[in-house]
Order: sequence, then C-alpha cells, then structure tokens
Amino acid sequence: MQSQLTKILQEVKEQLQKASTIVETEDIRVKILGKKGQLTEILRSMGKLSADERKELGLAANQARADIENLLDEKFAMLKEAAREGKFRLEKIDVTEPGIPHVLGVRHPITITIDEISKVFMSMGYSIAEGPEVETVFNNFDALNSPPNHPSRDYTDTFYMTENTLLRCHTSPVQVRAIKKQRPPIKIISPGRCFRRDDIDATHSPMFHQVEGLLLDEGVTMADLKGTLDSFAKQLFGSSLKTKFRPHYFPFTEPSAEMDVSCFKCGGKGCRVCKGSGWIEILGCGMVHPNVLKIGEVDTEKYTGFAFGMGVERIAMLKYEIDDIRLFYENDMRFINQFK
Ligand code: DAH
Repeated sequence: MQSQLTKILQEVKEQLQKASTIVETEDIRVKILGKKGQLTEILRSMGKLSADERKELGLAANQARADIENLLDEKFAMLKEAAREGKFRLEKIDVTEPGIPHVLGVRHPITITIDEISKVFMSMGYSIAEGPEVETVFNNFDALNSPPNHPSRDYTDTFYMTENTLLRCHTSPVQVRAIKKQRPPIKIISPGRCFRRDDIDATHSPMFHQVEGLLLDEGVTMADLKGTLDSFAKQLFGSSLKTKFRPHYFPFTEPSAEMDVSCFKCGGKGCRVCKGSGWIEILGCGMVHPNVLKIGEVDTEKYTGFAFGMGVERIAMLKYEIDDIRLFYENDMRFINQFK
C-alpha cells in the first residue's frame, strides 16, 4: 500500500506538470481526491487493516493527501495568476499610439449654393418653407394654372406615383401650399428637390434642385420684383453685375419674365461661360396669376404678389465653372473636397 501511495504521488506530479488549464487540474483533483478518487478509495479500505498497520499506513496516507493538496493548490494558484496576466496583457492600452484621425466632412456644392441663395433672401426677411417631394397632380399643375394639355403633364416628362400623385417637377407647388395655409403677407423661399423624366447628360439630371420664391402683400408690383431680384443677383455674383428682364411665358405668372445677369466671368464682353452673348439666364419669375391666388381664396383686388424659381445646379455650375452636372451626384471626394 505504501508503494501504491508513492506511485499515486508520482503520477499526480506528472499529470500536473502536463495540465495547462484550471479545468484539467480540477479533473486531476477529482480523480485522486474526489468521492471515488484513487486516494479516497485507499483511505476507505484502511478499515480492513489491523490497528498497527492502520496507524502506520494512516500516517503515510494522510501525508500523501496533504502533499497532493499542496501540489494542487500551487498549480491552481499558478494557473490563476497566468490567466490574470494574460487578461492584463490583452487589456493593455498603449497611450503613446497615435489616434485614428477624425476626418471632417465638407458641405456639398449644391448645399453651399442653396445656403448662399437662402442667406441673401433671409437677409431681406424671407423665411424658408418646405413642401413634399411627392406632390398631388393638383398642386403641381392644376393649382398653378397649368392647362390640361400642357406637355409637362405627360407621363414621358413627369414621374407619376399614381393617377393623382407625382414626384414634383418644380418647387412651385410650395407656393400653392403657402397660399392655402397662410393669409398674406407671405414672404417665403423654398429650396428643394425636383424630378423630371430627362435623360442624363452633361446638363440634365432626372433629379435636381430649385429654389422657389413668393412674395404676396398689398400693393406689390413688377418694380418690387425687379428690385428684389436685381439685389439678389448682385449679392450672389457681385455688385458690378447688371440684370435684364426678358418677357417669357409661365402659366402661373402674368406677366412672366426670365432674368439674365451680365456675365460675371467676362463682364459682358462674351466668353465660354456666357457662350459669347455676355448674358446668362438664371431664373424665371413673374407676377402671380390671379387664378393661382384664387386657390387660397386670396382677395385679388387687395393683394398682389411676385414669384420666382431658379435651378440650383445651373447656378452652381455657372458660379464654380463646372461643365458636367453629373459631377454633383457621383460623390467623388476629389470633386467635393474642392468646395471647402
Ligand atoms: N417653375 C418654373 C420651372 O420649373 C420656374 C418658375 C418660373 C418659378 C416662374 C416661378 C416663376 O415661381 O414665377 O421652370
């Protein structure tokens, strides 16, 4: 039995040497000291021995048990310490390591242009109004006095969602919403997205942006329209610039006009930007048609107003001399980053 004890002790030493985890070590403990463990069995079988033998072997067995317990305790302590160190190593932070740079974005040139246009009108007391991109056919066409057979109503020109709803093809329906919602005086601009079924090329995109404007009050005349838009153009492009109003036609204004500005690149002599004419068309405008005012039950004897609408992409392209509208939508950072 003595030799059995020596053998067990030897085996425990060898096994513990090989064990590399707490679970393995615990298995060894159970195998030796557990209820059915090898040493437990020996201690139990000692009842069968004579009193002398029991005394002698009991001493040896208890010694062996104490030795094994010590070995196990040491091993457990060692493994726990190793695990702790491993954890520390993983959680270590190198405070000298350089940080990940946080790159600030830049505003998109369309956003910059909308902000610049808005700033000018806000300084004149206009507030910003919004309307949905999915509009009713009524607000987009009928309420704007658009004749039932107008070509822009065609499904080949406009994106219809249903028979009565569409993706607005201009920001002018925001005028209708304002007139319906608000009593005059009304003084708003409305920047936003518009959609037309145009094929994509250097100057066309099925999605683009406009800024709409509406002023409605007592005694508003064409002179107010001209003064406002002339001042706007000078603030946006430079004070030396001249403006010119050409008669035009829009169903929702009467009279209607287009405003040209003298070329800010060549000063009017004629160049690539103004295609040699010295003038650049930048917006449509006019006195709000009484039929439009009627939608909001505005007293057309008392109130008159003017409206205007401009293409943001066009203005940005002129201002920054961008020759392809597609550059705005490709989000190539080499392009976008130039507008910081
Ligand atoms: N809605 C017109 C367009 O998309 C632009 C426009 C012209 C708006 C004259 C107006 C206006 O408010 O008075 O071409």
